[in-house]
This record gives sequence, structure tokens and C-alpha cells, in this order.
Amino acid sequence: MAKSTFFVCLNLSLLFSLVTATYYSSLTPTLLGFREEKFTHLHFFFHDVVSGPKPSMVFIAEPNGKAKDALPFGTVVAMDDPLTVGPEQDSKLVGKAQGIYTSISQEEMGLMMVMTMAFTNGDFNGSTISVLGRNMIMSEPVREMAIVGGTGAFRFARGYAQARFYSVDFTKEMLSWNTMYS
Ligand SMILES: *[C@@H]1O[C@H](CO)[C@@H](O)[C@H](O)[C@H]1NC(C)=O
Repeated sequence: MAKSTFFVCLNLSLLFSLVTATYYSSLTPTLLGFREEKFTHLHFFFHDVVSGPKPSMVFIAEPNGKAKDALPFGTVVAMDDPLTVGPEQDSKLVGKAQGIYTSISQEEMGLMMVMTMAFTNGDFNGSTISVLGRNMIMSEPVREMAIVGGTGAFRFARGYAQARFYSVDFTKEMLSWNTMYS
């Protein structure tokens, strides 16, 4: 009994010293694939299908006392929006924009986008770009958002994304995205 207690204590203290000794270490940038920066321009169409038989977004929260606007201040939406090469809905799928957007302005129609663009085609299949930013869909013809990071081919990514409306109708809203990253 005493023996096993001793072993447990020893193992715990060993584990503790291992953890404190190895929780970080310095690496050379090249070890993680950080090489000379490249600039890439991505262009695709973003389909936010808000109604119809197969919407690509869903309301998570709507503020109390429904306002007349489509997206009253405080609304939170989850999206799983297709990204395509061309503007047509059946155009080749390159990935999905997955995340949430929140209505963040009391004066105008404005959204805060928090999303991951996950590519499923071509050289960037499996890689993602994380986008964070303000999307004032009515007052700004071109909305610029920050690319805050990425995974896979886009590790260490930084840059900006620009969104502009391509077309809007009652069943879908389509944006053309110009995404630059370095
Ligand atoms: C993308 O990668 C996945 C996982 O490796 C694979 O199953 C799929 O076939 C690839 N898609 C394309 C279009 O290359």
C-alpha cells in the first residue's frame, strides 16, 4: 500500500517536471514551413442563400420584439455558404464559408463576419483562411475585411478580403469575393 502510494507520487512529480520543462521550445521558422512570403489572389463567388427550399444560413438568435428589418441589430446567423468559381449556383464548388455573422449596427445594415473559408478543390483543397471583419452591406459598395490567419497552404496567412454584391434577389444573395493574402 505504502509502496504504491510512493509510486503514484513519484510519477506525478516526474510528470510535473516533464511538463514544466517541455511546454515550449524555440523553433526555426523553416521547420513549420515559413519560407519566403508569396502573394496569391483568390477570386470566387459567395452564395448566402437566405430562403427557399435549401437555405445556407440559419438564425441562431433574433432580438426580442422583432423589428421590421430583415436583420435587426443583435441578430446572430450561422452560415455554411458555398463558394464557387462562377456566379451561377451550379458553378464549380471551390469551398465553403463557414461561420457566423452578427448584425452589429443600430443605424444601418451592418454585419460582423467571423468565418473560415474552407477550400475543397484544387491546390488549396484542405486549406482554410480565417476572415474577421465588418461588412456594411448597404452603405459600402466594397467591404474590406481582414484575413487573420490560415491553415495548410495558408499557414501564416495575412491579407485582406474584399466583398461586393454581384446580385441579390429574394431567394439568394451573392457576393463576389476578392481575397488577397500573402
Ligand atoms: C479534397 O481532399 C479530400 C481529402 O483528402 C479528398 O477526399 C477529395 O477527393 C479532394 N477533392 C478534390 C476535388 O480534389
